Amino acid sequence: MTASEQVPSLTDIKACVFDAYGTLFDFNSAVMRCRDDIGDSAERLSDIWRQKQLQYTWLRSLMGRHADFWQVTGEALDFALAALGIANPELRQRLMALYRELDTFPEVTDVLTRLKQGGMQTAILSNGAPDMLTAGVTAAGLENLLDEVLSVEDVGVFKPDPRVYQLAVDRMGVPPSAICFMSSNGWDAVGAAAFGFRVVWINRYKQPAEQLPASPDIEIDTLSPLPELLSLATP
Ligand code: LAC
Repeated sequence: MTASEQVPSLTDIKACVFDAYGTLFDFNSAVMRCRDDIGDSAERLSDIWRQKQLQYTWLRSLMGRHADFWQVTGEALDFALAALGIANPELRQRLMALYRELDTFPEVTDVLTRLKQGGMQTAILSNGAPDMLTAGVTAAGLENLLDEVLSVEDVGVFKPDPRVYQLAVDRMGVPPSAICFMSSNGWDAVGAAAFGFRVVWINRYKQPAEQLPASPDIEIDTLSPLPELLSLATP
């Protein structure tokens, strides 16, 4: 779906808030950079790692046993490596180091630049621990394109707990209806919509819609149409 096929409905937006992993940062890039060492299991490893990482966030939140996303990411990787019978501590260390400097998706810098030129406030709102996010933002050279980098660590619970989305409201001084939230994760898009944000689901992974009690406003497959959807002038 392209922006021109959509009825523009994103009016009076003051701030654009982005999920990090999968939306700005390509979490598959860590495993793909070690593909030669991992071989045929590479895609499966990346897939299990991501699925477990998310499941552990939800499970820890339900259990009331929070640990930061760096720990959860490492524990999920341990599960994924064990599931595939890979015992290689050096590989584990490399993958974790690479998770701190993931590739961004190709359009990210251009889109953030256009949003800033158009006068938008911009932020990340992520499960990521603060030092992971700072490392990723710095490695990608995005530090001057983001006004805030917000971590769930400030509320000690993971998405989609409403306290996480409230953090963006409190820090950015903008009401939920004036915040446009972007996530490639369907469940995160639903959580943000249920909270009251305007939501654009970046359906990079071509997933079906979640069957949950809220829906994103708009679905696109990359961030590229976003400035147009927000009626920002094209350069
Ligand atoms: C994040 C995960 C959900 O960045 O992708 O919050």
